[in-house]
Amino acid sequence: MNRALTLAHRWSEPARMRYAGDVFLTGKGRMRDRVISSTYFTVSTPMWGGYIEMEGHLDTFTLGLEKLVATGIQPRTVVDVGTGAGASGAMLARTWPQARVEAIDSSRRMIRHARMLHDEPNLRYRRASALAMPYDNGSVDLVTCLNAIVVPSEMQRVCAPDGHVLMAATWVPLRADDSDWVRRFADAGFHRIAADNHGNGSWEILARQP
Ligand SMILES: C[S@@+](CC[C@H](N)C(=O)[O-])C[C@H]1O[C@@H](n2cnc3c(N)ncnc32)[C@H](O)[C@@H]1O
Repeated sequence: MNRALTLAHRWSEPARMRYAGDVFLTGKGRMRDRVISSTYFTVSTPMWGGYIEMEGHLDTFTLGLEKLVATGIQPRTVVDVGTGAGASGAMLARTWPQARVEAIDSSRRMIRHARMLHDEPNLRYRRASALAMPYDNGSVDLVTCLNAIVVPSEMQRVCAPDGHVLMAATWVPLRADDSDWVRRFADAGFHRIAADNHGNGSWEILARQP
């Protein structure tokens, strides 16, 4: 990371964390935090492009995906939220070539960058927000995210009744069963079917309650 990006990263971190926290709890965030957060991701796009090539960045997502594949699910519609430079979306498209995979991100620059890196035929990048995804109720078989903002109620809205969610984080360990995180997802109708820590991060798979 160059010096300017390091400073932007440190300076914007409280606002980005508050934004993610507010969005997680209420489905919306403060305008100032949103502006800081999206400006940071716009200026740091090349850095996130570099991250995905860094050893270990995708490991937790890869492990969660392997576990999901082992369950035998065959999703027809997959949405990767906050895809950044797009490696997770591309991995999904290769894993299920018969599926339609959409990788969304709120940053126009990030989407442009991802399009330059990946061109799987069943993968489409789209500028869209995690807060209001452009999908009908119950129309997505699998929602995924790696290091991205999550809105349990919005995931619940778009997820099919027998759908799944895969969430992975490179630097955040698994939340406890009695945490707000797990409770919010349970309130939104999901339960954890598999989860694990790996390195500094973690992955988890949620299923809609039967
Ligand atoms: C921490 S980066 C992670 C990128 C990528 N998934 C990775 O791990 O390399 C978060 C990404 O979420 C995007 N983002 C931030 N707020 C968003 C929102 N409300 N809706 C969709 N994407 C958002 C950012 O533009 C950024 O690309």
